[in-house]
Amino acid sequence: MQRIRSVLIAFGLFAFACSSASAYDPSPLQDFCVAIKDFKNGACSYRRFLLFRPKQAENTSNPDGSNVTMINVDQILGLNTLGISLVRIDYAPYGVNPPHTHPRGSEILLVVEGTLYVGFVMANPNNCLFTKILNPGDVFVFPFGLIHFQFNIGKTAAVAFAGLSSQNAGVITIANAVFGSNPPINPDVVAKAFQLNKNVVKYLQSRY
Ligand SMILES: *[C@@H]1O[C@H](CO)[C@@H](O)[C@H](O)[C@H]1NC(C)=O
Ligand SMILES: *[C@@H]1O[C@H](CO)[C@@H](O)[C@H](O)[C@H]1NC(C)=O
Repeated sequence: MQRIRSVLIAFGLFAFACSSASAYDPSPLQDFCVAIKDFKNGACSYRRFLLFRPKQAENTSNPDGSNVTMINVDQILGLNTLGISLVRIDYAPYGVNPPHTHPRGSEILLVVEGTLYVGFVMANPNNCLFTKILNPGDVFVFPFGLIHFQFNIGKTAAVAFAGLSSQNAGVITIANAVFGSNPPINPDVVAKAFQLNKNVVKYLQSRY
């Protein structure tokens, strides 16, 4: 009975310590607070802080010619509340990581192999475009929430890693959100908003 009670108290304290972790990524509130689904595992295991997979090249045989491997709190439970995560991006020759935004994080990208043309666009009203060609070892920053992209302009495969200022930065790919929503946005809305013929909109909606 005593044992059950102390387990319940410990569990309650744990839940309380983690309860503020659901909404946003502020500074960490403690050294770490592993995700609750990991609680049953051994207390001192390094496993919740380790992932081997990002060393491996991912399959880029898809229409974009790129593959983004998320390394966030879903893969490394120990990231919970820490406000950081990582992605690995593989690019086929002339592959693109299409325009997208991260609703919960800034990004700092390091090119490991290949040559990337990268850019981001500032918010309204000026919508300034910032672009740069990056080679291995070069680093570029995509500020919080802004639409950005990377394009492999080399004849060989490219690889980049990027750090994000959230344990789960999220991603909104612009074309998928606009043309591939479920259910589709009314084509009249998209046609008017993008100044496109409605048949073009319907075609684009069929592609996503
Ligand atoms: C990325 O690569 C993995 C394995 O290499 C594959 O399972 C996955 O479908 C690929 N994703 C895309 C979008 O092609
Ligand atoms: C990559 O994905 C494509 C399309 O899904 C598939 O045909 C091909 O076999 C995959 N390549 C490898 C190395 O897994």
